[in-house]
Amino acid sequence: MKRIVIVMAMGAEAAPVLERLGAVARASPPSLSFGWYVAERSGCEVVVAVNGRDPRHGVDKIGTQPAALNTYLALEQHRPDLVITAGTAGGWARAGGRIGDVYLSETHFVYHDRRIAIPGYESYGVGSYPAVRADALARVLGLRQGIVTTGNSLDETDDDRRMIAASGASVKDMEGAAVAWVAELLDVPILAVKAITDLVDAHADTVAQFEANLAMASDRLCEALVAVIDWCAPRSVDDLGGLS
Ligand code: ADE
Repeated sequence: MKRIVIVMAMGAEAAPVLERLGAVARASPPSLSFGWYVAERSGCEVVVAVNGRDPRHGVDKIGTQPAALNTYLALEQHRPDLVITAGTAGGWARAGGRIGDVYLSETHFVYHDRRIAIPGYESYGVGSYPAVRADALARVLGLRQGIVTTGNSLDETDDDRRMIAASGASVKDMEGAAVAWVAELLDVPILAVKAITDLVDAHADTVAQFEANLAMASDRLCEALVAVIDWCAPRSVDDLGGLS
């Protein structure tokens, strides 16, 4: 692979990997407050596209809309061989999830908060955006795999729970399916690398878990991302097994 784009939502998630890669800032589209960085690793150009901060609310632009916009512009400009949606995520104890585990995507990405009961629109709402096959990569690096499910809330409502049970997802984030939708539109293979900060079905409060584990999970994410880049750089997407 000649170039990999990594899309990330939060500055705290991106900081360890930017430092580890020695990435330097590169010009990004004006007036959108995205942060784009570039580094060289294992003979491959790595572009890290961070969603940046919301100027009105002064917080990171997490969620699907900034992720889709950032991904579209980064992929159009850089035309990578692979895009990685990277960040932290929620997991479930009932699915064997543990805080600090790192997951790779498995088969496809879905949404759990787009409930459209109009005939024909139900499956459009859930979506199904293919992921690169990552079985060998997960085995070699000792990472877990799971279907990534995306929504624009940190918590899980009863309706979300029903949708997630139906999809069989085990990784809950706020960007993956949006990045994967754009990747499919632009014909760029996609992989998720997600580190678990909280277990949605634990008794402990999700926000408290997230805040307590963000730094640790971001460090684990960084380690896994570097290993994923080192494995992918000398290979093609076909070498990885192609699309699911
Ligand atoms: N990112 C980290 N934890 C999350 C959760 N519980 N839901 C969605 N995105 C997350």
